Amino acid sequence: MLVVIKKDYEEVSREAARIVAGAIRANPEVVLGLATGSTPLGLYKELIAFHRDGNLDFSGVTTFNLDEYLGLAPSHPQSFHHFMEYNFFSQVNVPRDQIHIPDGTITADYEGYCARYEQSIKAAGGIELQILGIGRNGHVGFNEPTSSLASRTRLKALSRETIEDNRHFFSDGTEMPKCAITMGIGTILDSRRVLLLASGRSKAAAVAKAIEGPITSSVSASALQMHPDVTFIIDEEAAYSLTQRDYYRHVLEMTQLFTPERLS
Ligand code: PGA
Repeated sequence: MLVVIKKDYEEVSREAARIVAGAIRANPEVVLGLATGSTPLGLYKELIAFHRDGNLDFSGVTTFNLDEYLGLAPSHPQSFHHFMEYNFFSQVNVPRDQIHIPDGTITADYEGYCARYEQSIKAAGGIELQILGIGRNGHVGFNEPTSSLASRTRLKALSRETIEDNRHFFSDGTEMPKCAITMGIGTILDSRRVLLLASGRSKAAAVAKAIEGPITSSVSASALQMHPDVTFIIDEEAAYSLTQRDYYRHVLEMTQLFTPERLS
């Protein structure tokens, strides 16, 4: 596990963009796992800037998003379809048929739908690089505390904390969804490389539990300790509660010296 501590959100975003752009240049047909939320916005802005400058072509890239609210149509302003379209896809050239986001409008056969989402990830060759944020309760995707560490894509009831954290987005009077469709922790662990981004003091406790705490379904992100290639890119504020910061810096220096490809 690599822990990269950057000064602030801008540096976190730039470092993540450098790695994602590198993955696309190394394999123009790369399969990316994408996340929504405020955290990856800076990453998307950087990637869009690379694309505008003519330095990054997404025409071969395939994407799978982590999750979507149940009951929201793609046109709903709070849907993750809308978020991705507005903040990323409308400004880069990922072909439409290579974009996958769980469908929040399904009303029957949830298991069948989720099994097909899993199957489409497999058919694309699996996710090469998965981007994650982290919730204050340690969730990744919408894998709320006590999610099975072996879970696959499925319908998930949102926790009260998540509903409260996201309620302000629904201030237009729309009722906040109570469920979501989310990739499972098992799905995330199957991706070949994971980048988890976090910024701000409000994430410090969750980040410390994920990196230094025991592996527990009470903190879904702690399952990443079982993944062979995870990089946490976090700012000083999000790193606040880590006890081994000096060691992580040392690990990074040694990685730069001996296995720099892990950082490219
Ligand atoms: P945020 O959400 O990026 O908006 O903080 C992260 C998450 O809940 O996974």
